[in-house]
Amino acid sequence: MVEQTRQNWDFRRFLDTLGFFGEIPFIGSFTWLQKLLGMKDDAILDSPNSPGVVLVAGATGGVGKRVVQRLHQQGIPVRGLVRNAQRGRELLGDEVDLVEADITLPETLTPKVFENIRAVICCTGTRVQPVEGDTPSREKYYQGVKFYLPEVAETPEYIEYQGVKNLVNAAKPYLKQRQNEKMIFDFRQPMPNFNSLWGAVDDVVMGGVSESGIRQISGAALFEGNVSTANSGGFASVRTRPLDQPLDLSDYEGIELRVRGDGNRYKFILRGDDRWDGISYCYSFDTVYNIWMTVRIPFAELIPNFRTKTIETAEPFPAATVTAFQLMLSKFEYDGELNPTFSAGGFRLELETMKAYGGPPLPQFIMISSAGVTRPGKPGLNLEDEPPAVRMNDQLGGILTWKLAGEDSVRESGVPYTVVRPCALTEDAGGKVLERDRGDTIKGQCSRNDIAQLCINLLNAPEDTNTTFEVREK
Ligand SMILES: NC(=O)c1ccc[n+]([C@@H]2O[C@H](COP(=O)([O-])OP(=O)(O)OC[C@H]3O[C@@H](n4cnc5c(N)ncnc54)[C@H](OP(=O)(O)O)[C@@H]3O)[C@@H](O)[C@H]2O)c1
Repeated sequence: MVEQTRQNWDFRRFLDTLGFFGEIPFIGSFTWLQKLLGMKDDAILDSPNSPGVVLVAGATGGVGKRVVQRLHQQGIPVRGLVRNAQRGRELLGDEVDLVEADITLPETLTPKVFENIRAVICCTGTRVQPVEGDTPSREKYYQGVKFYLPEVAETPEYIEYQGVKNLVNAAKPYLKQRQNEKMIFDFRQPMPNFNSLWGAVDDVVMGGVSESGIRQISGAALFEGNVSTANSGGFASVRTRPLDQPLDLSDYEGIELRVRGDGNRYKFILRGDDRWDGISYCYSFDTVYNIWMTVRIPFAELIPNFRTKTIETAEPFPAATVTAFQLMLSKFEYDGELNPTFSAGGFRLELETMKAYGGPPLPQFIMISSAGVTRPGKPGLNLEDEPPAVRMNDQLGGILTWKLAGEDSVRESGVPYTVVRPCALTEDAGGKVLERDRGDTIKGQCSRNDIAQLCINLLNAPEDTNTTFEVREK
């Protein structure tokens, strides 16, 4: 039933609202003051935050162990694939999840290896050693610059080609299920700046008496309040202050909410500029009483609005500059239409997460190959100038030829990939600038530390999906 009464308007709450959002009537925005006071919006998670485990094959190797250690230190769930778990434990400690398998033996690549993975970093390689022998910790192999006459201790065809092919094909069914999404708010975790970022914007701003708020409860955020139609009002909402740094979500399709409501129809609203009362882009969604549900809001279906009036001439939502998020319960839909499920009174909507979904594919199989893989047998090549692996490809069991075949199996797999071809690997501390090239002509060296970090960075680099490149230190 619609209330027609007039009630006392709470001027204090009106001022509080405008104050929180950095607006004073007739004077305008004072967000500069809030910025000066250090009110930051770092409750926003601006790193891609795909769930799942990163599987590192070759986790006992020079690069592989560094990838595992770094991921672990960075709090990214990681699992090491090792041929020998005891050796893995000695190298990586007890905290890291390890699984025993041999990529040349498909029967060892069991579901347990791939459980809940989001990506694979493949650091495997044929064991190469000096003909004269090496120490147990392979010092001569790892130093990477002084030349020792090398030999292969295993068959490259099996490891570089068959093994890599086995691994990518076995991983494929598990990797297909992953979507590229970006977590914006994870309300399941405590957020220190929650209260300085989110505030209520109820119809008090136009004389109404509805009252709402949002707060963190255990495992969710709760938007609740009381909506009243007194004083010609009829909406309650919560909104973020204008973000210091607009979010660029232009690579994504829309926003996904995980909510539990009360049967009401709510509005989700985005803004693309920092005006307090500018165009809002709205999407209405229905909730089911006490049921958790996932709501997808495609940017393309947002309705441009100015105070519930549709702006036919507005540009599509500018997803490259997202400045504010808002949730609303309103008596009004758009252009004078009424919300069909609206009734005045108490309401509650819980939120677990707010994500951007439908982003470009991220690399999900990152393979460390080698510079030089296309050079053996290349006409006009001066072998004297080439690194040992190229010069001695035949003596080394065609190691580079089989690496190239392994790369091909990754490129043909249909899994979003990146193939990294490093020049000679060293044990240097790293921290050097890496330069990339294509065409497989460069020579040089790079630190295993830097290559490990590069592989980790690639997990979040959609621009590198389905690319192959050589790399060396500048
Ligand atoms: N050395 C260089 O200058 C250079 C230059 C360019 C590219 N690369 C390539 O870069 C990659 C990483 O080099 P790195 O020095 O880190 O190599 P590495 O220390 O020899 O490590 C190779 C890893 O692969 C694992 N592995 C071998 N066969 C396997 C199998 N069948 N199943 C499961 N795991 C297996 C090894 O496990 P175990 O511990 O059980 O043996 C080891 O963990 C390699 O592909 C290498 O060829 C090297």
